[in-house]
Amino acid sequence: MERQPGFLLTIITLLLLCIAKGPVAARITNFTTDQSALLALRSHITNDPHNILTTKWSTTTSICNWMGVTCGVRHLRVTALNLSYMDLTGTIPPHLGNLSFLVKLHFRNNSFHGTLPQELACLRRLQLINFGFNNFMGTIPAWFGSLSKLQAFNIFEIPNEIGSLDQVEFMYVQDNALKGHVPVAVFNMSSLTILSLHGNSLNGGIPDNICQHLPNIQVPNLGNNQFGGPLPSKLWPCKELLELVLENNNFTGSIPKKMGNLTQLMEIYIACNNLTEIDLVKQSIK
Ligand SMILES: *[C@@H]1O[C@H](CO)[C@@H](O)[C@H](O)[C@H]1NC(C)=O
Ligand SMILES: *[C@@H]1O[C@H](CO)[C@@H](O)[C@H](O)[C@H]1NC(C)=O
Ligand SMILES: *[C@@H]1O[C@H](CO)[C@@H](O)[C@H](O)[C@H]1NC(C)=O
Ligand SMILES: *[C@@H]1O[C@H](CO)[C@@H](O)[C@H](O)[C@H]1NC(C)=O
Ligand SMILES: *[C@@H]1O[C@H](CO)[C@@H](O)[C@H](O)[C@H]1NC(C)=O
Ligand SMILES: *[C@@H]1O[C@H](CO)[C@@H](O)[C@H](O)[C@H]1NC(C)=O
Ligand SMILES: *[C@@H]1O[C@H](CO)[C@@H](O)[C@H](O)[C@H]1NC(C)=O
Ligand SMILES: *[C@@H]1O[C@H](CO)[C@@H](O)[C@H](O)[C@H]1NC(C)=O
Repeated sequence: MERQPGFLLTIITLLLLCIAKGPVAARITNFTTDQSALLALRSHITNDPHNILTTKWSTTTSICNWMGVTCGVRHLRVTALNLSYMDLTGTIPPHLGNLSFLVKLHFRNNSFHGTLPQELACLRRLQLINFGFNNFMGTIPAWFGSLSKLQAFNIFEIPNEIGSLDQVEFMYVQDNALKGHVPVAVFNMSSLTILSLHGNSLNGGIPDNICQHLPNIQVPNLGNNQFGGPLPSKLWPCKELLELVLENNNFTGSIPKKMGNLTQLMEIYIACNNLTEIDLVKQSIK
């Protein structure tokens, strides 16, 4: 509960930010805006050992031909950005929040550091976020959750377009240096199928009703963090569950006795916690 004020404040700041820049910018962004955003990103790269951005991101060619950039065929706007495995070092500039047609964002396995700018919340078409295997720090920004609930409050007559990430299906932020609590809203992104928070220093509990709010979740991976408290008492509403990874945390109490009808569930990793009644799990898995 003590998270709420901070969380709300972040969201409100974020909404103001999106109101100030978002809707207007969102409507008037164009191909040139996309180019400026990518140039800003390029200028925030401090080490590019394979000279990818210097040779393959040249202003003499269209950004749609740049390595790792995919444009939509109709509007020629950037729809995917894949900088995975490029050994890049740098930070993410707020300008990336202007890539308003972006659906997929991959930065896996580089040395990006710093925090994730909240302007990314304005990327309302985003469906896949992969920031795994980097050195991002700070907390998991509240914008990772859906803001649609706050829109419903109607505090600012908020236009519908504003920063709702409720289309996100895959979120990978594993193996970074993130700490603190996970905003409750993240455990509320109903479209999520894969949520990987593995290998950070996150703490706090997980909401008991997580399965009601994540009906599509297949792989919740919370392993190697400092999560604590009891496991959710009801796992059966997570009907799509394939793999449950909770190992190396401080979860306490017992495994839910009624695992229910989790016919898809293949693997549970719960070693190195503070749990009892572990043998019940074996009975639950077919
Ligand atoms: C693109 O948007 C910028 C500012 O948002 C504007 O100055 C520019 O004229 C636009 N370009 C085109 C081709 O519409
Ligand atoms: C991203 O790029 C890397 C390296 O080129 C490639 O291995 C990977 O498959 C790409 N990922 C996606 C989702 O396109
Ligand atoms: C894009 O975003 C940056 C930072 O968030 C901002 O300064 C800039 O004016 C925005 N708009 C355009 C059209 O580049
Ligand atoms: C990340 O990339 C490095 C090389 O840059 C490689 O050695 C390592 O196995 C990769 N890690 C993952 C998890 O893909
Ligand atoms: C989560 O979603 C439920 C129902 O959609 C809503 O009642 C609840 O307030 C949400 N919580 C957060 C923190 O977004
Ligand atoms: C679990 O909690 C104990 C006591 O607070 C702490 O010493 C330990 O480091 C924690 N372990 C993990 C994996 O978070
Ligand atoms: C399990 O699911 C099947 C098919 O959805 C259903 O027929 C069965 O009654 C369920 N069993 C329990 C114990 O809920
Ligand atoms: C395990 O949990 C018990 C209570 O459930 C607590 O007393 C004990 O300190 C915990 N151990 C660790 C290592 O966190």
